[in-house]
This record gives sequence, C-alpha cells and structure tokens, in this order.
Amino acid sequence: MKAVCIYSYGGPGVLVYEDAPRPHPGPGEVLIRVHAAGINPVDWKIREGHLKEMLHHTLPLVLGWDVSGVVETVGSGVLRMHVNDEVFSRPDVTRDGCYAEFVTIRESEVALKPKSIDHVHAAALPLAGLTAWQSLFEAGSLVAGQRVLIHGAAGGVGTLAVQLAKAKGAHVIGTASGHNRAFLRELGVDQFVDYTTERFEEVVEPVDLVFDTIGGETQDRSWIVLKPGGILVSIVSQPTVEVAESHGVRQAFVFTQPNAAQLAEIAKLVDAGKLRAIVEKVLPLAEARQAQELSEKGHTRGKIVLKVGDSTGKPA
Ligand SMILES: NC(=O)c1ccc[n+]([C@@H]2O[C@H](COP(=O)([O-])OP(=O)(O)OC[C@H]3O[C@@H](n4cnc5c(N)ncnc54)[C@H](OP(=O)(O)O)[C@@H]3O)[C@@H](O)[C@H]2O)c1
Repeated sequence: MKAVCIYSYGGPGVLVYEDAPRPHPGPGEVLIRVHAAGINPVDWKIREGHLKEMLHHTLPLVLGWDVSGVVETVGSGVLRMHVNDEVFSRPDVTRDGCYAEFVTIRESEVALKPKSIDHVHAAALPLAGLTAWQSLFEAGSLVAGQRVLIHGAAGGVGTLAVQLAKAKGAHVIGTASGHNRAFLRELGVDQFVDYTTERFEEVVEPVDLVFDTIGGETQDRSWIVLKPGGILVSIVSQPTVEVAESHGVRQAFVFTQPNAAQLAEIAKLVDAGKLRAIVEKVLPLAEARQAQELSEKGHTRGKIVLKVGDSTGKPA
C-alpha cells in the first residue's frame, strides 16, 4: 500500500510517500480501507518531535489520526463492526496513523460514519469533534443557557465547537480574524470578535466557559472574562492552577481520547443536520507535505483533508 511516513523528526522534508506493508488486524482490531484522512496540527507537531517525550513513538511512523473509510477485514473477537461497514475514527495517537491506504484500529475506537456526508467530510470530524465534545461537555460541563467564549472559532476544532455549543443551547462568542466574520455568524456565533482589531476582554461580557484553542497571551488575557466559578478549558497549554485560583475560577487541560460512543453522537448530530464539517481544502495522499505546510500556517478555515486512493491507486 501507499503511505506517508517519517523516519526521523524534522521539517516537512522528512515526510516520505512510499510503498509500505499493508497492516493486519490483531485481536479486537479492524483493518480499514482509508478513503480520506484529516489533517490536524498534532500531525506536524509530532513530525517536528514536540511530543516525543510524551508519546514514545517508534520510527518509522505513519502520521495522521483522523480517518473515514470502509472495514476491509476484522480481527478475532470483533463483534460490533463488520466487513464493508463505512466508519470513521480518531485512533490511538501512539500507534501508526492514517496517511495510508489501510490502517488497523481497535474496534473500540471506531464508529459508523454519518450516512449523510461523504468520506472526505467524515474524515474532518473525529479528532476535532471529540476534542470539542470532551472540552465543552466533559471538562467544561457546558449546559443550555450558559455563555461560552471560543478562541480560534474558525479552525478545525473551533468550527465544530461553535456548532456543538449552539446545539446545546449556549450563547456563543467566537474569536477569529475579520475575514471569518460572515462565515462564523452564519455558522451560529452570537457575538464575533476580530482578534486583529479588538481586545476580547474589553468587549465580551462575563462568560461561564472559555475554550482556549490558541494559548499564549490569548489564554493569559482570558481569566478576567470568566464569571466567578467559571472554567477555562485549554487544549494548547496547561493553565496554571494558582492563576485560576487567584481569579476565583477553575481550569482544565484536555488531551483528546478516542471514544466511539461520542463519535456515534457526533454522527447523529450530523445526520440530523445540526453539525457540519467545514472542509477548506482536499489534497491527494501524495500531497501530505503540502497539506501539513498549509496547516502549519495556522489559518485554516475548518479542515484540510487528504483523499486517499484505493490499493490499486484508483481514486476512492
Ligand atoms: N489537546 C488536544 O487534544 C488537542 C486536540 C486538537 C487540537 N489541539 C491543538 O489546538 C490548536 C487548534 O487546533 P485546530 O485543529 O483547531 O487548529 P487550526 O484548524 O489550524 O486553527 C486555525 C484557526 O486558528 C485561528 N487563529 C489563529 N490565531 C488566532 C488568534 N490569535 N485568535 C483567534 N483565532 C486564531 C485562525 O483564524 P484566522 O485565520 O481568522 O486567524 C484559523 O481559523 C492546535 O494547537 C492543536 O494542536 C489540541
């Protein structure tokens, strides 16, 4: 099969598009014929070696932990998934990923993909969708009627967080640069803040939850917009407990975990027309390097997705 691997950590030049052995599903695993693989910032962060102390990968490593495809074969003990099921997943990031024509994934990390969308759009959902879900609803305990400030609202995670928060019945404030204003208002943002011309802490009334997908000074300036007892949830850098306490608020850091049950909920929302995947660009698997270079610029609207051919090289 074709796959995109790294043999060493480094810049985009370490990505190698090559022939690789087709994996075999072990007990409890499914072999998925990949139709599309989503790009996420964690892909190039891992490529650059930023997470090597945490994830202990063995190289060579296939990158990419967002997939939509079709179950090709199943390993022993697999009960829930069947050959030809159309599925999507955010698999375990410590294992080989999905920039490949085939990938093996634990059955417990796989769900049926939304029926109403194609594989390219389904591959844009798992990692960012689970991140938004676990941050807003698990760490943040967001409920209807609350106010939430979402930093990076136009990004892969942000676009899904905005829609999930709206579907929950929250009042949503989103930050992005001015060219995303009309897009985000249409997506459901109640108040838009252009971070290039306004300071959000000067224009946003107190909120129950800040969802930080940006970090740095954006996180530092976020404490004062929280109501007493509110919570800042970051997916970028661990907020400081002492700083949170000094503001009378709470903090949490989320590192997204695979979760098939939550993926099934996400699929239901998509099929009910309450959640849509925003895909800005589709590239072939062989262009993974260009896809990562684009992602690394930090201004993707929604997602970049790799479309993956079948094992004969034909388009999926
Ligand atoms: N902890 C975890 O498990 C986890 C999971 C997923 C993602 N993450 C991390 O979370 C971050 C976001 O991920 P992502 O996939 O959403 O990234 P992304 O799609 O690359 O985000 C791009 C978006 O960020 C916006 N942006 C850039 N600077 C901004 C600023 N100062 N204020 C507001 N918006 C700004 C851009 O909007 P404009 O073009 O308008 O500037 C763009 O739409 C990444 O660092 C990623 O590694 C962590």
